[in-house]
Amino acid sequence: MAGFQEPPLKKAKSESFALHSAGASSQSPLKNNNGFGKNKWQNGSSPNQAGVKSPVKSPDQMKKILKQRHSLPIFPARSKLLEELKKSESVIVIGETGSGKTTQIPQYIHEERWDRKGAICITQPRRVAAISIAKRVAEEMDTQLGGLVGYSVRFEEAVSPSTKLKYVTDGMLLREAISDPLMSKYSWVILDEAHERTVSTDVLFGIVKDAQRSRKVQGKEPLKIIIMSATMDVDHFSTYFNKAPVLYLEGRQYPIEMFYARQKQEDYVMTCMSTIFQIHKEAPAQHDILVFLTGQEEIDSVVFSLKQIAKDPSLLEYPKLRVYPLYAALPSHQQLDVFRETAQGERKVIISTNIAETSITIPGIKYVVDSGRAKIRSYNASSGFDALKVKKISQAQAWQRTGRAGREAEGFCYRGYTQEEFKAMPINPVPEILRTNLASVILQLLAIGVKNVMNFDFIDKPSVDSVKQAIEQLALIGGVVTSPGLELTPAGRRMAQFPLEPRYAKTILSGPEYGCTDEILTIIAVLSSETIFVNPSGKKDLAAKVRQKFSSVEGDHITMLKIFRAFKSSKESKMWCHENFLNFRNISYAVEVRKQLVQVCQRCNIPIISCQQNLEPVRRCLVAGLFTSVAELQLDGKYLTLSTRQECAIHPASVLFGGKPAYVLFTELVHTGKAYMHINSAVDADWLYEVAPDYFRKRHMKK
Ligand code: CDP
Ligand code: MG
Repeated sequence: MAGFQEPPLKKAKSESFALHSAGASSQSPLKNNNGFGKNKWQNGSSPNQAGVKSPVKSPDQMKKILKQRHSLPIFPARSKLLEELKKSESVIVIGETGSGKTTQIPQYIHEERWDRKGAICITQPRRVAAISIAKRVAEEMDTQLGGLVGYSVRFEEAVSPSTKLKYVTDGMLLREAISDPLMSKYSWVILDEAHERTVSTDVLFGIVKDAQRSRKVQGKEPLKIIIMSATMDVDHFSTYFNKAPVLYLEGRQYPIEMFYARQKQEDYVMTCMSTIFQIHKEAPAQHDILVFLTGQEEIDSVVFSLKQIAKDPSLLEYPKLRVYPLYAALPSHQQLDVFRETAQGERKVIISTNIAETSITIPGIKYVVDSGRAKIRSYNASSGFDALKVKKISQAQAWQRTGRAGREAEGFCYRGYTQEEFKAMPINPVPEILRTNLASVILQLLAIGVKNVMNFDFIDKPSVDSVKQAIEQLALIGGVVTSPGLELTPAGRRMAQFPLEPRYAKTILSGPEYGCTDEILTIIAVLSSETIFVNPSGKKDLAAKVRQKFSSVEGDHITMLKIFRAFKSSKESKMWCHENFLNFRNISYAVEVRKQLVQVCQRCNIPIISCQQNLEPVRRCLVAGLFTSVAELQLDGKYLTLSTRQECAIHPASVLFGGKPAYVLFTELVHTGKAYMHINSAVDADWLYEVAPDYFRKRHMKK
């Protein structure tokens, strides 16, 4: 990050707190055992910013909103920006998070009525960001969400024919490109958060660039492209977009005082928790804390523990603590809590994934606590599986996180790692396209009509091997044929209609053949949502016992199906979920996902048949799509995957744990020290041979 200095470590902070433990753990987060060192980080400053209010309509409130809009760093650059947008067909805009890029630029374009002939589409890597920003912009424009301003994310949308400012996830725009590769609905495509380099955004770079060129060649309405980002390798992007001009926005950044851990920390979650209470006891009320952790489960459990600890009588003299989770799968009404202004005498603590790094701006943050970690999806080519792993972030991300503390006033950042650890972090994150399974990408490119996927104009090209591997996988599930040339099959075309990994789409397509589309849709909907199980710390055994009645010896998929059916019979009761240690929110989400999948099936003329109580066909059907994710029991009691002979074990959370089925079909292989199979079903060797005889013969499977 140019211009940001990182001065040497100063004297360590040494206050400690004599508080007794409130949690069950002997290592209480109330203990200040992380020993932070202290140093200063400084950058330019500018005037303070007005607070953000909840939805408004009265003239007074509108005035306030306008004032806030005018106080954003982007506002003074408005005319310069518009001038540049008018002249150039592609523009790159760089500006600190919170400067107003995402909310203001589309409004400026609309105010000029440059969206008369085609709408403005703004992509976000995350659904929460797309939804919350659309809401905010609708408020600023004083219109109903879903009218002039709308959003469209996987499994949820609020748009109408009159929508001119449309916030979408990058995945959604990619999906739209399948039926409309020229993006003819839009005059403007804004690819936001470009530095995140998600696979979908990376593919979109190539797709919009091509759409822009094709529209020009065909004499159609021009397509304007804006690439926006907080920080990025500008030259690389500018070159790629035909030497597009780069506009830098003067950011707003107040000084931030930095603290590093003095020694390496064993447990980053505990470090973050103890830091929160250390801050809590020092900081005045309304000085809010933003904490960066990794995933939903971890965040939910930390939120739970913090709420418990906050009840400790010794903490009564401090401000009232309000703790909120923030992650991509959070339902929209809960996201709003995060943006609510903190009341007098209170303090807000937000426990977030990397979503709050750049996509979402939360007002009031004075303190940032950074675990230095994120859940990162990476593809292991040798094992052939995608894995979500907790990994160290890059320096660029660490600085983004730090920056969140200094948007409105001076702030503080606590890094739960040492300065040496920081220096050892990679400077920039590796683009996702270079570390992911490309089967979806290749399927989508083919569906969009890209003939030569090997030569697709990627900003950073994935290796030939990983493209070949993806093509092989698609050929295995019948999505493509490779001779005489690479081509989508009719089944592949239908697979591309589903907002799912190709192998899951294939499973649905196989539903009618096995007579169980209905059940498969349910299972895939549940798999698409975050975990439906609630395992409160201290009550894990009880939860497992209560849920025992749903357990099926056939495996986790059938168990999930049974739970979903029971949830439906309970009339989708929240109480019922509570009693059964099930997450109401996540099951309800699965219900919505299922409805969407049913619609796709109807569009593709896939009959929805149910196998009722005879559930064997369900597992056979799972095999039809997921047969490359099967492990075989060995004589020594261990499992080896059939695809790459990798050693793995049944995860203890699986209903199959403890049993030794000869063949296990798994949903995910996660490496946490050891490779664990998650969400599994017991399957028969015969079924495997039936579905893919050549594939299994080659693997010398025992029969
Ligand atoms: O895109 P960029 O990070 O440059 O900023 P933005 O998302 O357009 O946000 C500009 C300002 O709008 C932020 O500083 C917030 O104060 C406010 N905002 C908000 O209050 N609520 C939202 N959901 C989004 C933005
Ligand atoms: Mg933004």
